[in-house]
Amino acid sequence: MSNQKTRPERAASIRFAVIGAGGMGAVHAASIATFADAAVTWVADVDDARSSRLATQVGARATTSMEEAVGAGDVDAVVIALPTSLHRLATELAAAHGKHVFCEKPVARTPDDAQAMIDACTRAGVRLMIGHVVRFFDEYATIKRLLDAGTIGQPGMVRASRLNAPVMARSAWFADLERNGGIVCDLMIHELDTLRWYFGAVERVFAHGLTYTPYQPTRDYAMASLRFRNGATALVETSWAHTGFRTAIELSGQYGIIRHASDTAATLTVERTAAEGGIPAVVRQRPLGESPYQRELRHFIDRVRTDTPFLTSGDEGKAAVALACAILESMRTGRPTHPEPVVTPVHR
Ligand SMILES: NC(=O)c1ccc[n+]([C@@H]2O[C@H](COP(=O)([O-])OP(=O)(O)OC[C@H]3O[C@@H](n4cnc5c(N)ncnc54)[C@H](O)[C@@H]3O)[C@@H](O)[C@H]2O)c1
Repeated sequence: MSNQKTRPERAASIRFAVIGAGGMGAVHAASIATFADAAVTWVADVDDARSSRLATQVGARATTSMEEAVGAGDVDAVVIALPTSLHRLATELAAAHGKHVFCEKPVARTPDDAQAMIDACTRAGVRLMIGHVVRFFDEYATIKRLLDAGTIGQPGMVRASRLNAPVMARSAWFADLERNGGIVCDLMIHELDTLRWYFGAVERVFAHGLTYTPYQPTRDYAMASLRFRNGATALVETSWAHTGFRTAIELSGQYGIIRHASDTAATLTVERTAAEGGIPAVVRQRPLGESPYQRELRHFIDRVRTDTPFLTSGDEGKAAVALACAILESMRTGRPTHPEPVVTPVHR
């Protein structure tokens, strides 16, 4: 009898192409580089200097052509970190090459584009996950568990905010409302997805803001009230007119209140007077343990390997975009809107 120990099987490394080497591309490439069972093999960005710099940092090859990176033989999955208007194109390209897709939020500018992406991935037999990272923050995930456990009973009222500096000062595409959906599709979508996760479908919204005013190209702000089918109401505030970045949420129910505020929960504050090629920034972090960005990619890798449902599927991303579009419509017309019926998520 052999006394040799059988080594546990090591899963083959998942090889990623990171498409877009701007802010989020850099975050995702750095996260993947910390995993023992994954690697970035390609980085693509139309800006040659950006793709080369990031590729060097993570030991990957650089290209200015997303087609070259997505089609490369040593790529199993792609991370799409491009301006929103390009998410559909890049996803369809990846699906056509048989590559799994992790796509940044919002999934797309419109629910129709989102559906086309879902269909392309389904047809190709590849997986599609949307980077709704807030669900991977400890605080927001814990709130979900507390709500599901009935800790504050029936939730009645929520106030949630996400306030940032004018991001269009660092990347002009954020100001292109028509193609990318402005602050509601880009920033408020975090609260929209999270609150849908907590409470389900939204039956009525009413919104105000700067989005359809002359301020919009340089500053944006939106405030929306939402009534959920389960009876809960929420007031959501989002800004690209502040300094720094902070989020907060307060939920009150029959038996009590749950509160979180990022500026009191952070253990580390980094204040940059001027970021390279961008705007001054105040970033509050909790650097201990895995970051939510590492956690969401870990989720992607594990669920691809085991062929099990994603927490943030294409359908979930589409529902959040449909809600964002209803809020934009309310802001544009000055009238309440009733979001399109929310499709029951199928978790693929
Ligand atoms: N989850 C989050 O916390 C979070 C935060 C910020 C942004 N985002 C999302 O991530 C996505 C990217 O945002 P960002 O802040 O990284 O933007 P960014 O402007 O910093 O980076 C986008 C990059 O895409 C490149 N690019 C543009 N067209 C291209 C093309 N045709 N081929 C290859 N590269 C191209 C640009 O040169 C740029 O480097 C957006 O969908 C945004 O909504 C998510």
